[in-house]
Amino acid sequence: MTNIITIDGPSGVGKGTVSLKIAKHLGWNILDSGALYRILALIAKRNQISVKDENQLVKLANELDIEFIPSDDLSKLQIIYAKQDITSEIRNEIYGSMASQIAVNAKIRTALLARQRAFYILPGLVADGRDMGTVVFPEAKYKFFLTASCEERALRRYKQLINIGIYVRLSELALEIANRDKRDSMRTTAPLVAAPDAITIDTTELSIEEVVEQILNKMVL
Ligand code: DC
Repeated sequence: MTNIITIDGPSGVGKGTVSLKIAKHLGWNILDSGALYRILALIAKRNQISVKDENQLVKLANELDIEFIPSDDLSKLQIIYAKQDITSEIRNEIYGSMASQIAVNAKIRTALLARQRAFYILPGLVADGRDMGTVVFPEAKYKFFLTASCEERALRRYKQLINIGIYVRLSELALEIANRDKRDSMRTTAPLVAAPDAITIDTTELSIEEVVEQILNKMVL
């Protein structure tokens, strides 16, 4: 499919920001797939459901009442769950870590598949996550896999969290991100891995604008 771009990669690499900018440039829809796992984590925490409770989590995944609303200038994505704005709340690393634990479960991943695919609407979709190019949209023509050094990714996530008023220790965040990446890469179902036909971009030394430019330059629409 020539109108789907997948952007996968580890935590804190800047996929979300890059995806928003590309979606804005092209006027396409956007899927922040990590937010779905984070929302499940938030609901689990609120209802004291274990990250290992497959039955309850599959049920929740099938019933999710969510809405993703891009801001007018497409610089942000507002995330609404059951009419409540949870955009900033789910960015807390506690939900990142819980999301990663929930995401190892194959049945929960399957329950979220159709919902993720429904984000594909004309004129096109930019999908950000871990398995966008490998599992959710394997037919996408443009697949990118972003990487960056662990230090740089921790720093990027740190700045992002500070920006939305979430204060954390950089050293702790770096550790949490490393644990999460390890879990996401080692799981048997839909692990974090570049699709064989994805273009990998090491973004360590690049600005957001440079990454966006490189991606757009590699596409022939
Ligand atoms: O992109 P993120 O940091 O918001 O994702 C949170 C977690 O959700 C991530 O550590 C693993 C899981 N996830 C996943 O398994 N598959 C995706 N496509 C996106 C996220």
